[in-house]
Amino acid sequence: MSEEIKNKQAEKKKRIFSAIQPSGTITLGNYLGALRNWVKLQDEYDCIFAVADLHAITVRQDPKQFRNNILEAYALLIACGIDTEKSLFFIQSHVHTHAELAWILNCYTQFGELSRMTQFKDKSAKHADNVNAGLFTYPSLMAADILLYKADLVPVGEDQKQHLELSRNIAERFNGVYGNTFTVPDGYIPKVGARVRSLQDPTKKMSKSDENANSWVAVLDKPDTIMKKFKRAVTDSEARVCVGEGKDGINNLIGIMSAVTGKTSDDITAEFEGKGYGDFKTAVGEAVIEELRPIQERFDQLINDKAFLEEQYRKGAEFALKISQRTLDKAMKKIGYLAK
Ligand code: TRP
Repeated sequence: MSEEIKNKQAEKKKRIFSAIQPSGTITLGNYLGALRNWVKLQDEYDCIFAVADLHAITVRQDPKQFRNNILEAYALLIACGIDTEKSLFFIQSHVHTHAELAWILNCYTQFGELSRMTQFKDKSAKHADNVNAGLFTYPSLMAADILLYKADLVPVGEDQKQHLELSRNIAERFNGVYGNTFTVPDGYIPKVGARVRSLQDPTKKMSKSDENANSWVAVLDKPDTIMKKFKRAVTDSEARVCVGEGKDGINNLIGIMSAVTGKTSDDITAEFEGKGYGDFKTAVGEAVIEELRPIQERFDQLINDKAFLEEQYRKGAEFALKISQRTLDKAMKKIGYLAK
């Protein structure tokens, strides 16, 4: 346990918990919309982050690929700036309390509540051949992740808000029956957060599950791939680099440019006055390549240093178990389980 993490706990900073699934592709949207904010939160909050690999098997995974994806997600988050000296960072499946509390919370979650989750409805429609019980109870596992650490705040995107709301309801319900046991978490809405959209259909969020690979950029895409994808980005026929209605493609590119350079959209409009979309798209591509370059370099080093990664995730899991076991024990005692 690092001194810095210990101090943060002693100072009673607010605690943040968030997690990301090891999907194999972390996109520019994940980075600008979520990860980069996590990195910034580390100084101000007592942060706990996890690679949510238990959640990932609600869809079928190829074992070898899955193992790689988990390690790569862990390495990539560190490459993006998650600092294991400042934050607790672990792999969910390494900490057995998650699955245990998830089972318990399943018994305090209603079938009707889970049936109303829009993500369940969407995913079960999409994977009609594998509508497994895990897909259905996924939100109880997410609630367990959050409640085990008594998180005050949970940064989540639009798509996870309903799950967070359910976590709050589960916590309140349990506390209502047994007295104060879990901290009821609030959502954390970042002050600035880029909402990166698809490069091919900017009315949709950038997502790696999009069949058209030109619609998303991965944090680990090679520079020429990134450039190619930006050059193919959908725009409009006005040929003016400015924010406007009906200009979803350009609005998105301006948003990305602004997020990576820190320039305002007015600065960007002024800079590209009289220039065509071709020039602008190239400039956005270059800016993104420069932003991602140090992350990619750091990732290449880390992924070749398995011993370092192992040391970090082992330490993380050990510490996470300590914290979470206390909460699990408390909940079990309240329910009436016989102490070991
Ligand atoms: N379900 C989240 C997602 O797919 C990942 C996740 C798992 C999570 N557990 C969490 C997010 C706890 C926030 C808090 O994006």
